[in-house]
Amino acid sequence: MKILSIETSCDETALSVVEVNESTQDPTFDILASSLYSQASKHAEFGGVFPALAKREHARNLVPLLAELDYVQKLGDRSEEIVENTKKEVEDILVREPGLAEALIEFISNHDKPDVDVIAVTSGPGLEPALWVGINFARALSLIWQIPMIPVNHMEGHIVSFLLHKNDTNTNIEELNASFPALAILISGGHTELVLVKNFGDYEVIGQTTDDAIGEAYDKTARLLDLPYPGGPHIANLAQQARGEGVENDWLKLPRPLLHSPDYNFSLSGLKTAVLYAVQKRGDLSDNDKKIVAQEFEQSVVDVLIKKSRKAIEDYNIQSCIVGGGVIANQFIRDNLQILADEQNIPIFFPTQELSTDNATMIAIAGYFTTKHTEPEICPDIVAQGNLSLNK
Ligand code: KG4
Ligand code: ZN
Repeated sequence: MKILSIETSCDETALSVVEVNESTQDPTFDILASSLYSQASKHAEFGGVFPALAKREHARNLVPLLAELDYVQKLGDRSEEIVENTKKEVEDILVREPGLAEALIEFISNHDKPDVDVIAVTSGPGLEPALWVGINFARALSLIWQIPMIPVNHMEGHIVSFLLHKNDTNTNIEELNASFPALAILISGGHTELVLVKNFGDYEVIGQTTDDAIGEAYDKTARLLDLPYPGGPHIANLAQQARGEGVENDWLKLPRPLLHSPDYNFSLSGLKTAVLYAVQKRGDLSDNDKKIVAQEFEQSVVDVLIKKSRKAIEDYNIQSCIVGGGVIANQFIRDNLQILADEQNIPIFFPTQELSTDNATMIAIAGYFTTKHTEPEICPDIVAQGNLSLNK
């Protein structure tokens, strides 16, 4: 099975073609082609992702990325007839995405239908204006090429992203089969979730943030220290320097929100507010002060994340951990999760750096698991769901 996937839930526009090999007992996945454009630098001046800009950028970049995929063959003018037959409908589908219908029709008219069995598109969670662009683009392609399509949950993408390693494109999932139930720890700029994975396709969200996501808290804290967006890596850097240099902290103690609550939930916005008050009280911050804030903030995040993850592992008799989301670029968080897994004597799986941030390859893999319970259809009425949950 070959899957063309489309991801536009936030500020990455991405396409991928993944081949699923089902000839063995457990499927293996190969990336045949992928293209991605990150809008992060365009959102930097707003200090966060600006939905209207994200939508516009997705509409502008989808066709160039489709061309860049280098998978849809250029075969001259063979497709003109398809265009004649579907032009009006395509224009209707893409009526809210300025310029996209024209660019797509132009592209289709000199490219042939690709060798793809299913189109998978992220339908949520995410920014609804951004999600709609991907959904409508996928619907137009589905109609033009008469290829059935399915909606995919972005968070399932983060869960399955570890199944594909960059230098080891044939990762067998057999090693994980013995290790359910698994605990997925999903930490990104948009999400903080602990998910009980009973099997691929069978999930239960057991904990989540009640306000800001972990990455968002890093970014907001960074802003308080006058660091550029996205601030996560800058905070991580300062915290690491503080630990490396043994900088002494004799003035700052931040809260560990919900550390002792009997659930698996997180709350990060109070932590950011505590940083704000502490920084205001301190006045002008020296370089060392900034390092102290970064270290204390990061330690607070890690203390709560590890405590809640440990509680989930013990309460649910978890057999393995799966990590996903852009924040796992953070080495301190990674190291502490690894230590936790070692202490609990269970394996822990991380995706590559490239597949930990938003991408379309993970959407294709999640799309494969989605086909196990959802029948792909030609141009179905899929609705963007900003708050789509993994719970059934
Ligand atoms: O998954 P992602 O690329 O975007 C979505 O949220 O969908 O994650 C980006 C987030 C940003 O908040 C960024 O600041 C954070 O991940 N981040 C980090 C690090 N690298 C990226 N946070 C902490 N430490 C890092 N090293
Ligand atoms: Zn994401």
